[in-house]
Amino acid sequence: MPELRESLGHRYLQATKCSREGRERQAPPVIQRTERWKTYPEAEKVKLPRTWPEQGADFLSILQHRRSVRDFVAKPMSLEELALLLWASQGITGQVGSFFFRTAPSAGALYPMETYLAIQRVDGLDPGIYHFDVQGFRLERLSVLSPGQPLADACLGQGFMAQAPVNFIWTAIFRRNMVKYGHRGLRYILLDAGHICQNLLLAAGFLGLGGCPVAAFFDDEVNGLLGVDGQEESVLYLASLGRKG
Ligand SMILES: Cc1cc2nc3c(=O)[nH]c(=O)nc-3n(C[C@H](O)[C@H](O)[C@H](O)COP(=O)(O)O)c2cc1C
Repeated sequence: MPELRESLGHRYLQATKCSREGRERQAPPVIQRTERWKTYPEAEKVKLPRTWPEQGADFLSILQHRRSVRDFVAKPMSLEELALLLWASQGITGQVGSFFFRTAPSAGALYPMETYLAIQRVDGLDPGIYHFDVQGFRLERLSVLSPGQPLADACLGQGFMAQAPVNFIWTAIFRRNMVKYGHRGLRYILLDAGHICQNLLLAAGFLGLGGCPVAAFFDDEVNGLLGVDGQEESVLYLASLGRKG
């Protein structure tokens, strides 16, 4: 499929993959720090109110209290909780013509992201790697291995991932987006991923759960766990989810 492989997005993604060998071989570029906050000292200032409406206080409280959680209790997650997290992050919420819209926005309504789950402790589900069938709103079991430790190893040894009841793993099928947006498409795909993850984290807050986004991983090791090729489809982002310890 040469045209996808020639796109800047594809080349950037491949060139910035993290691997064990690459980490040992290549030093990161040295880039000078800059200031932390930007202000315009000469500009007129307008002080903002901090009074929010009472209505919707629960939602605002979820925003206020969201923090990355990396310490999880042993208690399993319920299947209902998992289903709500999947719906909140990628559920279908409407149809107009041939477009199926979802909870999270997507450039051009093209939805290039796929959701996989590394399940360790969910009531009623055997541990394993599952794929979320968006249209059927169901899970497809892909492997029977207990995925926590292999996944943590593939994510630079981040031990909390092995403890989390569930890890969400998002890949992109680049062609879905790039067929329309070409070189620029990778930007949109990455933005889509951010929307999905934030929806998930806020829904976790609603359920009294917590999570941590993860972008430090050996790309092709995670791809290998999922059985995706790293070219047409490759991992972009993960999140560990569970009840705070
Ligand atoms: C794109 C992205 C990648 C991240 N990757 C990791 C990661 O690999 N491991 C980790 O422990 N935290 C990761 N985090 C979480 C950040 O460290 C965390 O969001 C940041 O310290 C701010 O803290 P807060 O989320 O508690 O507000 C990531 C966050 C983002 C947005």
